Amino acid sequence: MNFQFTEDQLMIQQTAREFATSEIAPTAVERDKNAEFPYKLVKKLGELGFMGMMVSPEYDGAGLDTVSYVLAMIEISKVDASLGVIMSVNNSLVCYGLDKWGSEHIKNKFLRRLAKGEKLGSFALSEPEAGSDATKQHTQAHKVDGGWAINGIKNWITNGVSADYHLVMAQTDKEKAHHGITAFLVEKGTHGFTHGAKEDKLGIRSSDTCSLSFENCIVPDENIVWEVGKGFNFAMNTLNGGRIGIASQAVGIAEAALEAAIKYSKIRKAFGTEIANHQGIQFKLADMATNVEAAKLLTLQAAFLKDAGKKYSKEAAMAKLYASKTAVDCALEAIQIHGGYGYVREYLVERYLRDAKITEIYEGTSEIQRIVVARELLKD
Ligand code: CAA
Repeated sequence: MNFQFTEDQLMIQQTAREFATSEIAPTAVERDKNAEFPYKLVKKLGELGFMGMMVSPEYDGAGLDTVSYVLAMIEISKVDASLGVIMSVNNSLVCYGLDKWGSEHIKNKFLRRLAKGEKLGSFALSEPEAGSDATKQHTQAHKVDGGWAINGIKNWITNGVSADYHLVMAQTDKEKAHHGITAFLVEKGTHGFTHGAKEDKLGIRSSDTCSLSFENCIVPDENIVWEVGKGFNFAMNTLNGGRIGIASQAVGIAEAALEAAIKYSKIRKAFGTEIANHQGIQFKLADMATNVEAAKLLTLQAAFLKDAGKKYSKEAAMAKLYASKTAVDCALEAIQIHGGYGYVREYLVERYLRDAKITEIYEGTSEIQRIVVARELLKD
């Protein structure tokens, strides 16, 4: 692994940092409070090329590598993890998969606009009774003249309310179990498709999450992504990259918590001195910083392997597992260091904890990441 970032990678990191500080930070607290979706910021991210970072320029993407994506995701999520997940889903769960496995028709009609941030995407795999156990899809699609009729419900869909294009996994052949699942692209406004109310969430409140319902929703044949029966394969391979995105989001939150804790410990006095001078606080800061660094390295390693065209599913799972725990731990420690001030909204650290928790749940829970890692370790 190369520990030296290229000039381009450093420039992306700097651009993301400046954008996050000047444009995202001023509204982050209010948006979290009011659960307000950042439409204007998403458009601006698109203009910066951050909504289709890894899409080839041939399809209007920024043509960047995964390492650059990780660096940008960390900076954005450090200031606003809600915007981080909106960006991550569009980049790694939607654009990346369409770029890699989409037909020319899909790339020209949908990917271009997603990559430019003109349109937003969602990824719909989870269902009310199929979360971790994702092979057990209840949503079905049956063949009709010229297309497929989708019936079923999807749950916990990030960008579900705001997205224009939804990637929907549905069972097209029950006999074939997960080899009979197909991925469809469903456009907002298609007859028979509706979304549920926005969930009232603990964290990442400025992003939207909802259920999607399909009642004889007809999509044309050309909206199939990859091939009939390849939908589960598509979802799993796409999620491997998605997990790098969520690991980066978690690193961003953890870094923010660490920085807040350092800043506060240098100004808050107790027992006649700044609390940073107490070894009890120093040990906490040292542990937090060590874990943040380890999480970042694991995440960059997974990105590096992906960019090198090597297998990275185990490393992506390890990165998400470790980074999400680090985000939760760092947010908790930052609150502890802030004492009572950490428990109220006036200081940002309580949001870090609320935002951090979901990174241990979505795009595969920590338990699922352990399964992915263990299966790779035990493979013959
Ligand atoms: N990469 C590539 N392929 C994978 C894979 C991975 N990480 N994990 C599993 N697969 C493949 C297997 O190789 C197997 O393929 P074949 O049958 O063709 O050989 C197939 O998937 C089924 O795998 P298993 O036989 O191991 O099936 P299982 O049911 O025992 O386990 C699972 C599957 C790993 C638990 C899988 O269901 C899983 O990853 N579940 C978690 C789902 C998930 O991450 N959901 C997140 C929802 S999306 C989201 O959160 C988006 C959002 O809005 C933020």
